[in-house]
Amino acid sequence: MKIAIFASGNGSNFEVLAQKIIGGEIPGELALLFCDHPDAYVIERSRKFQIPVVTFTVKACGDKQAYEEKIAQVLEQYKIDFIVLAGYMRVIGQPVLSKYEGRIVNLHPAYLPAYPGLHAIERAFADGVAQTGVTVHYIDAGLDSGPIIAQKHVPLYSDDCLEDLEARIHACEHKLYPAVLKELLSKKGE
Ligand code: GAR
Repeated sequence: MKIAIFASGNGSNFEVLAQKIIGGEIPGELALLFCDHPDAYVIERSRKFQIPVVTFTVKACGDKQAYEEKIAQVLEQYKIDFIVLAGYMRVIGQPVLSKYEGRIVNLHPAYLPAYPGLHAIERAFADGVAQTGVTVHYIDAGLDSGPIIAQKHVPLYSDDCLEDLEARIHACEHKLYPAVLKELLSKKGE
């Protein structure tokens, strides 16, 4: 099972997952990191793993359709079986979705269907909710709307600042995502 991780920015989830895939805790081969921001810190993080990295922007491709088609070609070139979105800040377009539906999972920093889309942590914090959460789900054509695989609540305390909530959510993600992928990919390998 050849796995591609897609990421756009910091890459803390990428790093946790890469360690566990390469270390054999999560089954599969980490065959590609794709990043849509050539300057993203996740690329720096990836260097210690010696895995193939492909990065290009929508702008460099001309438009979104050409960008998506180029990603589909790259996935074919690396013979990717399964896509893990870990902080990838774009919607997956049809050229990729049509080939990989049911084989793309996403991590979202909220308890979906609450707070889909961007800035989910900030919006939950601004609303002063008692709890928010983390969701792992399959991707479909909608915005964070695909079938849910696993979720966990994360509390927001009255004396929290935004950074406290962010740290609590990321800590939850770093546990939940590897656990879910371990189970999912073990089943797929059977
Ligand atoms: C994570 O909190 C992830 O849930 C979120 O981006 C962050 C990436 O952190 N993803 C989304 O918001 C997707 N819509 P990381 O780069 O440190 O892994």
